[in-house]
Amino acid sequence: MGVVSTLHTVYILNQIITILQFEGMKQLKALILIGGFGTRLRPLTCTRPKALFPIVNKPLLQWTFEKLAENGVNEVILAVNKLTEFHIKQARMPKYGLSVKFSLDPPKMPLGTAGPVKKAEKLLGHEEPFLVLNGDLITEISYRQLLRAHLEGKAVATIALHEAEDPSRYGTAELAEGNRIKQFVEKPPKGTEPSKLINAGVYVLSPKIFDYIPEGRAVSMEREVFPKLAEKNVLYGHKVGGLWIDIGKPEEYLETNKLILETCADKPRKARNFNCKNPVAIGKGVIIGENSVIGPCAILGKNVTVGKNVQIRNSVVFQDAKIEDDAIVEGALIGESAKIGKGAKISEGCIIADHARVKEGAVLHEKVHVCPAIEVA
Ligand code: GTP
Repeated sequence: MGVVSTLHTVYILNQIITILQFEGMKQLKALILIGGFGTRLRPLTCTRPKALFPIVNKPLLQWTFEKLAENGVNEVILAVNKLTEFHIKQARMPKYGLSVKFSLDPPKMPLGTAGPVKKAEKLLGHEEPFLVLNGDLITEISYRQLLRAHLEGKAVATIALHEAEDPSRYGTAELAEGNRIKQFVEKPPKGTEPSKLINAGVYVLSPKIFDYIPEGRAVSMEREVFPKLAEKNVLYGHKVGGLWIDIGKPEEYLETNKLILETCADKPRKARNFNCKNPVAIGKGVIIGENSVIGPCAILGKNVTVGKNVQIRNSVVFQDAKIEDDAIVEGALIGESAKIGKGAKISEGCIIADHARVKEGAVLHEKVHVCPAIEVA
């Protein structure tokens, strides 16, 4: 570990102590839900869980760990399936001083969004409230403020509520006096939404929650548990602002990368042999050939090789991919170790999965998806 990251870890550990003292809590635990199948992001999710998708060349879960540590969390429980657990253990990412444990859904029985909370009951304990997060989010939500809001009242659950233009795609909440949630409706038909306030996928739960979740089967937090809590007047909301985006769909994943890229793009670089149009992020070991145009909004993972006269814009290229001479990649996602042949054209919305190959001169029209390790001509 370098000096800078050691200092960063020490800084975060100090933060944790200060925050917990302030809240009068002994420790703060967070459960992250990352055992879903990510079907909307196929075929990239055929070979990696959503939690490991790179956001500007850093896995999403690493962004989450960093933010949890900064917010005073000291223990994280990852609610996973066997495959997700395998990939995450392989990834060996920095943990910023967090203690990380795994809680596995039973084989062939995904537990949904509430079942994993019940499954992790022993790890979460009965002493103090804890955080639960969907693992496919990038947000500016202050977990500390959410925790404080929860500690002020008599809630069993306090949900971070974000205002959305189209709330019908999400769980929506109707607030009553003192931020109590009167009604919680998951994905209400358009025009019937009780408000524009949506479930941001981040909650604080009190141990009492375990009484509301049946054991040994899939349970939906949004469809079963929250409506029941609202009925009993123990569901509360806390309005949050700022950046909030989930990477559930390909276009949202690309958008998330673009938003984060604007905040942490590489410094404008004067490339001698290629044309760099900022913002761009270029990973370690990337090679770019003469007269290529990279950007705007291009993210190249480590060890990507780009040939001559290539154009890449508005796209994410995962590590070790190879884009040969004269190819054009626009508005696309290119998986790890994928190969785009000489002069090929990859259009908006295309997804080329890991290890797939697009042959020389092939033209892929909008939204073509290529499965892992397949070759297309
Ligand atoms: P889609 O199939 O594309 O809807 O993706 P998903 O099921 O992975 O995501 P969804 O938005 O429905 O779930 C929200 C969060 O809960 C994600 O971080 C998922 O990984 C997680 N999740 C969903 N279902 C399960 C489950 O059965 N078990 C566990 N442990 N986590 C889950």
